[in-house]
Amino acid sequence: MSELTEYVKNQIWIFEYPVRYGGIDLFGRMTIIRLGSGDLIVHDPCQIDESIKKQIDAIGNVRYIVAPGSYHHLFVTDFQEYYPDAETFLCPGLERKRPDIKFDWILGNRPDHRWGDELEQVVVQGTKLIWEVAFLHKPSGTLILVDLLENIGDDYRHKASLYLRFWWKLVFRMWNHPKAAPEYQIGWGNKAIVKNSLNRIIDWDAKRIILAHGELIEGNVGDVLRDAWKRVLRA
Ligand SMILES: [Fe+2]
Repeated sequence: MSELTEYVKNQIWIFEYPVRYGGIDLFGRMTIIRLGSGDLIVHDPCQIDESIKKQIDAIGNVRYIVAPGSYHHLFVTDFQEYYPDAETFLCPGLERKRPDIKFDWILGNRPDHRWGDELEQVVVQGTKLIWEVAFLHKPSGTLILVDLLENIGDDYRHKASLYLRFWWKLVFRMWNHPKAAPEYQIGWGNKAIVKNSLNRIIDWDAKRIILAHGELIEGNVGDVLRDAWKRVLRA
């Protein structure tokens, strides 16, 4: 199990962990944002244990737990048990998909007032099978996504299984080529609506991307997004 790693000095930490999805072994990535107040946002929680909790508690107080995507909700309840006073924010639709999760808020296009000075957010609307809320950490220009982009290839620091290579290279053709998660690609949805959300994200002009699966992306953020989503943006 990896360690919590500081990604943006004093402001953003990431934590990588193995996940198995549809028989494919991948890695997921949790992001922790420390606000100016010292409060922490846990974005896309991992499976927590005492050792991870200790590392998190060393950087601040967990006030907010965020389930940012329609497929990124598995460990929210675990986190709630460890941090019963934290407020939980769900990606729209999760309240129906996971009625067992107790929550305080549904994420929208406007950030909560307690983090609005530091974060922007967009609900990606119009997609068919999968959806998420994208965040921008304004002080560092960091775009924080879950499945809007996946970036797995030769640089993948976690050994990719043969099965993963087969799917990513031969079926989805997204080896060494950041693309939208397969669940986006097999049903682009209402492209005109999706395009509105994507353009807002591209207009943020972020400098780097944290994503849930694959390598982080530094630089050329607009070009990477425009290429990965060209089927939608050119429609
Ligand atoms: Fe995912």
